Amino acid sequence: MNQIEANKHAWGLLSEDHYHHFKKRFLEDSYRLNPIVLKEIGDVAGKTILHLQCNTGADSIALAKLGAKSVTGVDLVPDNVKFAKQLAEDLGVENVDFIESDIMELMDKHEGKYDIVFTSDGAIGWLPDFNKWGRTLRHFLKEDGYFYVHDGHPFFLSFDEEKIKDGILDLKYPYFDSEADFSSSIGGYASQTKEANNYYWMYTISKLINALSQAGLFIEYLQEYDRCAPGMGGTALDDEGLCYYPQLEGKLPLVFSLKATPR
Ligand SMILES: C[S@@+](CC[C@H](N)C(=O)[O-])C[C@H]1O[C@@H](n2cnc3c(N)ncnc32)[C@H](O)[C@@H]1O
Repeated sequence: MNQIEANKHAWGLLSEDHYHHFKKRFLEDSYRLNPIVLKEIGDVAGKTILHLQCNTGADSIALAKLGAKSVTGVDLVPDNVKFAKQLAEDLGVENVDFIESDIMELMDKHEGKYDIVFTSDGAIGWLPDFNKWGRTLRHFLKEDGYFYVHDGHPFFLSFDEEKIKDGILDLKYPYFDSEADFSSSIGGYASQTKEANNYYWMYTISKLINALSQAGLFIEYLQEYDRCAPGMGGTALDDEGLCYYPQLEGKLPLVFSLKATPR
């Protein structure tokens, strides 16, 4: 099994649990888009959105409920797409659809141009080729559209995820690593952790910026934050519902956001 196939299998083990988790959250009216994303993305009313790595569709549905004209979610895993469709149907959300594809193959499999290409919260490190990712985003953007990404800050992702909870910064994952990091477990944020081999590619800020620039995109902004949405890090919760590490507040970026437009 190659690395992408291994990731497909691993993520597929979580699909049903994620569907039940997010369905419950929507029915309780407790599911919201990441508060930083919500603030930055602005008014999406009437926009067509391509949502990359949509998992079981929670954020695609949240974007659709904000009044987007249509949201198309894309994910590698057949069961994620199946449960995303089911979740949209259960919730009566019609302006959303889902397609199954490896993002690395999306240009060969799908046609269309969108007002917004969107990806967030634990997405980009699952992709092995950053330059192809950049070309893919550009390919699906309308000339007056924009690309938006919000994800883990790679500097934060370099440190030991357990020790950091005590404010200890121990460099565990080389920032400049171009080989995939191997893990034998996955999940834990909307399901139990499951045993399954998976591969994650570290990205750097320069790889990200250069991939977008080389694909013909202009960077409108790059933001860095010392707090993040629940599930992405942190041990304490602030008044806005964002998580942070008390000993590292104001000292370490946990997440970044970037907006880019066609040049
Ligand atoms: C942490 S989840 C992202 C969740 C996202 N924040 C959301 O909107 O719910 C990562 C997702 O990336 C998907 N994925 C991993 N590798 C992929 C690939 N090569 N192409 C498309 N999707 C991929 C996984 O199936 C998983 O659903």
